[in-house]
Amino acid sequence: MDKLRITGGRPLEGTVRISGAKNAALPVMAATLLASGVHRLRNVPKLRDTQTFIRVLETLGAQVSREGDALTIDTRGVNTFEAPYELVKTMRASIYVLAPLLARLGAARVSLPGGCAWGPRPVNLHLAGLQAMGAKLEIEHGYIVGRDIRLRGATFGFDVVSVGATVQLMMAAVLAEGATVLENVALEPDVTALGDVLIACGARIEGLGTRRLVIQGVNALRPVDAAIIPDRIEAATFAAATAMTAGKVRLEGVTADHFEAPLRKLEEAGCTILRESDAVSVSAPRRPKAVDVVTQPFPGVPTDMQAQMIAVSAVAAGTSVIEDTIYVDRFTHVPELARLGADIELKGNVAVVKGVERLSGAPVMATDLRASASLVMAALAAEGETVIDRIYHLDRGYEALEVKLAGLGARVERLA
Ligand code: EPU
Repeated sequence: MDKLRITGGRPLEGTVRISGAKNAALPVMAATLLASGVHRLRNVPKLRDTQTFIRVLETLGAQVSREGDALTIDTRGVNTFEAPYELVKTMRASIYVLAPLLARLGAARVSLPGGCAWGPRPVNLHLAGLQAMGAKLEIEHGYIVGRDIRLRGATFGFDVVSVGATVQLMMAAVLAEGATVLENVALEPDVTALGDVLIACGARIEGLGTRRLVIQGVNALRPVDAAIIPDRIEAATFAAATAMTAGKVRLEGVTADHFEAPLRKLEEAGCTILRESDAVSVSAPRRPKAVDVVTQPFPGVPTDMQAQMIAVSAVAAGTSVIEDTIYVDRFTHVPELARLGADIELKGNVAVVKGVERLSGAPVMATDLRASASLVMAALAAEGETVIDRIYHLDRGYEALEVKLAGLGARVERLA
């Protein structure tokens, strides 16, 4: 199993190009199922998760080829409606095929994803929304099963803001009969990016970028040629790593508005941040100041940055209070960061972090994607050597991480 060996203590310095967003690529890849034809997606990051999604699409009968960062997805041969457990259990976002299969084939058999490394992640809103649109779904042998489904427009309000359920119901509504009104939708850039792609396919969506979407179903959609938006979480992770190592880094190919909330937190911590049209430069002080963080749906600080903000706080001057309101159990990085000398007290979903002058390298274990990112950051700032085990978690969501870090002067090596 691959490991990363990092020898810490050097500031990150230079320029890094940010890849396309994993969490925007996955719904757009699913949406290609809605229109029979040959789609072309550019700026698709090469990650374990995008590779897994390619396998899901192929299992359903699509043909997919990759050339550099571009994918060609031919969905003309889609004729299977089963997404098997073996694939869905490795990546929850596989459930995104549910609505497109119901819309296009009138049937689906998609494995329920089950739990995840940090606790339960329900899909009740996905199911309730589809049911409101006329899909009679049963749970059979661990699978969500729908047969002879004809989706009809409906009004559905989300009682919790959910990226995944919003995306799922948008995909259901674009080909449904009549109008669908979705209330209290997620505003994450990944959702808006999906909406833009669906509109380019011929969908009729009003209210994109607001909490209320009105979607008028159409008879058919056409294939698309689209670019995936930049990965705001990758960008924010590099920005936070810069803050933590007293570095100076220019992030290229980014949209600053998409990660404004974490950038503001880093400014509060003492960083100087320069925003340009497609680049952001971060210049860090010798030591960051403690800042308090509460994760929120977009435009707040994302839960996908909670672990990285704890890592920054671990070396900050003062005490930071970091609360995750989205995923209250997502703290598996805390005991691993403690192995590097971090002083963190966890009280439910609130981490109280007393910054220390220096972390010290140690062997640690990656537990999930963003937790792993926080360990890499801590290792970069720590004195001595850290070996991070189980980095397949990192490969799910950070493209060529060690190559990009080495380009910024980090001493990092992949051990096979
Ligand atoms: N929720 C429900 N019922 C549902 C769906 C969600 O109660 O049916 C709750 C969740 O338990 C959570 C909240 O709603 O408390 C928000 O979850 P959401 O549905 O927005 O999460 P998701 O769509 O499953 C996506 C990202 C996650 C990211 C969250 C929050 C993708 C593929 N995944 O997950 O990304 O943490 O939104 O922003 O887009 C990651 O990239 O590391 C990652 C985990």
